Amino acid sequence: MSGQKTWGGRFTGGTDRRVEAFTESITFDRRLYRHDIIASQAHARMLGEVGMLTPAEAEQIAAALDEIGADIDAGRMEFRISLEDIHTHIERALIAKLGDLGRKLHTGRSRNDQVVTDVKLWVRDAIDELDALLKDVQAAFVASAGREAGVVLPGYTHLQRAQPVLAAHYFLAYVEKFQRDRERLADCRKRVNILPLGAAALAGTSLPINRESVRRQLGFDTVARNSLDVSSDRDFALEFVFALSVVAAHLSGWAEEWVIWSTTEFNFLDLPDAFCTGSSIMPHKKNPDVLELTRGKAGKVIAGLQQLFLLVKGLPLAYNRDLQEDKTAIFDAFDTVAGCLGVAAPLVRETKLRRDVIAARLEDGFLDATTLMEGLIARGVPMRSAHEAVGNLVRECEGKRCRLADLPDAAFEAACPGRGAELRGTLGVANALAAFTSVGSTAPLEVERQVREWRERLV
Ligand code: ARG
Repeated sequence: MSGQKTWGGRFTGGTDRRVEAFTESITFDRRLYRHDIIASQAHARMLGEVGMLTPAEAEQIAAALDEIGADIDAGRMEFRISLEDIHTHIERALIAKLGDLGRKLHTGRSRNDQVVTDVKLWVRDAIDELDALLKDVQAAFVASAGREAGVVLPGYTHLQRAQPVLAAHYFLAYVEKFQRDRERLADCRKRVNILPLGAAALAGTSLPINRESVRRQLGFDTVARNSLDVSSDRDFALEFVFALSVVAAHLSGWAEEWVIWSTTEFNFLDLPDAFCTGSSIMPHKKNPDVLELTRGKAGKVIAGLQQLFLLVKGLPLAYNRDLQEDKTAIFDAFDTVAGCLGVAAPLVRETKLRRDVIAARLEDGFLDATTLMEGLIARGVPMRSAHEAVGNLVRECEGKRCRLADLPDAAFEAACPGRGAELRGTLGVANALAAFTSVGSTAPLEVERQVREWRERLV
């Protein structure tokens, strides 16, 4: 019925039901209700300040909005696609409670600036929640770094054994990634926290609104300068879902690594039973489903970013209804990443390295070859010659199926005449590891210092 529509005046007939079903957003934007209510309360109080409402009327509206919020909380709001979206539902409920006074709330605003204000308030809260979740995942990795201190892992490039790294160094690598994720979200938050409301439909309003008051009440940092920009601006949504895509990519890479590490072939990890599932037919199976789903779900988040880009790339100024579709990508990206982070933290905390298995094969794979080469360089052998000499020694070992440390002194003498015996001190994983010194390396003192620093930073 056109009478129920906020825009009914212009229309004679009702909206086709199929169009109502096609154009509605209430099925997904209802989760903005809290933010819609606080934004409307701030707007009403501002109208009270500037004389468009009396202060008492503004408080009446604010109180009625609280009741509507409580009704929605309690599941007492009946959502109908004929009322299109959450903004219309709440305004209709207000009018049902307050009559003509309720009909004044929308003074000096449009759903175009209202919806983006709601979404920004929602994203701001989402960022704060994500920051806490990311911090908890970081804390879990730092705890593992502390617990597995002293454990040495084979470090990989191309998934081939490369150089030894302390397990703590390995865990802290993820702490760094999630730190950048937090910084990206914090940076995104700066642009989220600019108030759109007051742009009205696209050009502003002739009514004496006070945007500064609304800004202050809602805790925005500044007021958006250009009304025409406001209703078309979804940069913050792109940035938000981009930041989430990076989180998802980090989680996915980690998950892939641990899927590999939990195979019989690697057997580096003892995944907690509570985070694995079994097979309906193979009684022995313990599958890393949580990790696999973390890897799999990243696709949705990244797809959401594509969706948003495709949504905005062809839009002329200012509001276009296409923009209604932004919310599903935003919500889904958040839900997915928050869900992944929520299980990642306890999974990391409860996963132990199989130290014996790792140690038993640690001397395999020439993890000390690069340190041996650096030992030659330190003794004056040109880098390229040292590289070649060690390459030759490795080839010799492969022929004999032995390790570098198993070669006779003579082999090292050939590479570094007169000082071959000294080079033994660079061989073996323990020596190789102890040799690291550079800032940011896996040098034990450096790693210990960083674990301490992270512990302090994450309290
Ligand atoms: N449901 C709409 C959305 O989510 C609200 C804004 C509608 N604005 C309009 N001019 N039709 O984008």
